[in-house]
Amino acid sequence: MVSGVGMAVDLGGVKMRNPINTASGTFGFGWQLEGFYDVSTLGAITAKGTSAEPWPGNPAPRLCEVSSGIMNTIGLANPGVAGVIEKSGAYLAELERRGCRVIMQAVGHTIEEYRSAVRLIEELAPFVSGIELNISCPNIARGGKLVGGTPEDAAEVVRAVRPLVSRPLLVKMAPVRVPEIARACEGAGADALSLINTINAMSIDVRTRRSRLSKPTGGLSGPAIHPIAVRMVWEAAQAVSIPINGIGGISSGADAAEMILAGATAVTVGTQNLPDPTAAPRILGELEAWASEQGVSGINELVGAFEC
Ligand SMILES: Cc1cc2nc3c(=O)[nH]c(=O)nc-3n(C[C@H](O)[C@H](O)[C@H](O)COP(=O)(O)O)c2cc1C
Repeated sequence: MVSGVGMAVDLGGVKMRNPINTASGTFGFGWQLEGFYDVSTLGAITAKGTSAEPWPGNPAPRLCEVSSGIMNTIGLANPGVAGVIEKSGAYLAELERRGCRVIMQAVGHTIEEYRSAVRLIEELAPFVSGIELNISCPNIARGGKLVGGTPEDAAEVVRAVRPLVSRPLLVKMAPVRVPEIARACEGAGADALSLINTINAMSIDVRTRRSRLSKPTGGLSGPAIHPIAVRMVWEAAQAVSIPINGIGGISSGADAAEMILAGATAVTVGTQNLPDPTAAPRILGELEAWASEQGVSGINELVGAFEC
């Protein structure tokens, strides 16, 4: 706290020294950024989506640049919970000791796979402050439809893992049917909601007439989705009383401030980490300066302070 504004926030039981978090899949496991700045100055980091067993992901090309954003079809490639802990566990435990909260993210293609991932995280990563369920994965049993694409399906997966999780449980929502799915997740036991995940989009190379990714469609992220994400955070905040982790195209302190005014308690920096590895601490400084200008004693006073 350099400005006199209290920056600490409580994201459903994840007690953060400030509201800045980093988005799953855009920040590795944190240690990759240590050469740029002290990662423990952030409020939290969210690890890449991790399954019980390793997933190979989709073929290349997996990333392409589009107007004001990028598209990806990584397909949640990851080395499995044991692989992540073997390589990054000691660093993540140390990060927690240094005061930055670590949120592990669980993914699966079936409810049983989510349960297995969560059980392994509980067993192999007892130091983490929170577990986030990414319910934007394709459900194999339902022909690849999103695991959490309807309120009923979202509630089913949250209810199935809730008894296995001994710490705060966050649910990362797809940008669909936001108010209803937010309410369903809250009712099923989520402690906080993270939104939004990428938006399904398409980019065609007109010379070859082929997709610019290895699949016809991919997930759009970056500044292009920011105003949509602000609207969805606002809708979710109207629908539930649990805290919201706002994600989507945040590249400045003003973008983060918009999320907070719309109702987010924490703000998560994603795609902007790629062109600018020091984006997260810069945005933290800009956010704190804004809160000071607003004349509040704590950042929490600004959560949901949007006036129509
Ligand atoms: C390369 C890449 C990988 C991603 N991997 C994940 C992931 O593993 N789990 C997840 O929930 N979201 C994943 N996302 C989505 C981000 O966490 C975030 O929700 C989204 O990109 C919107 O935020 P942004 O516009 O700030 O990037 C990924 C995004 C990108 C660009």
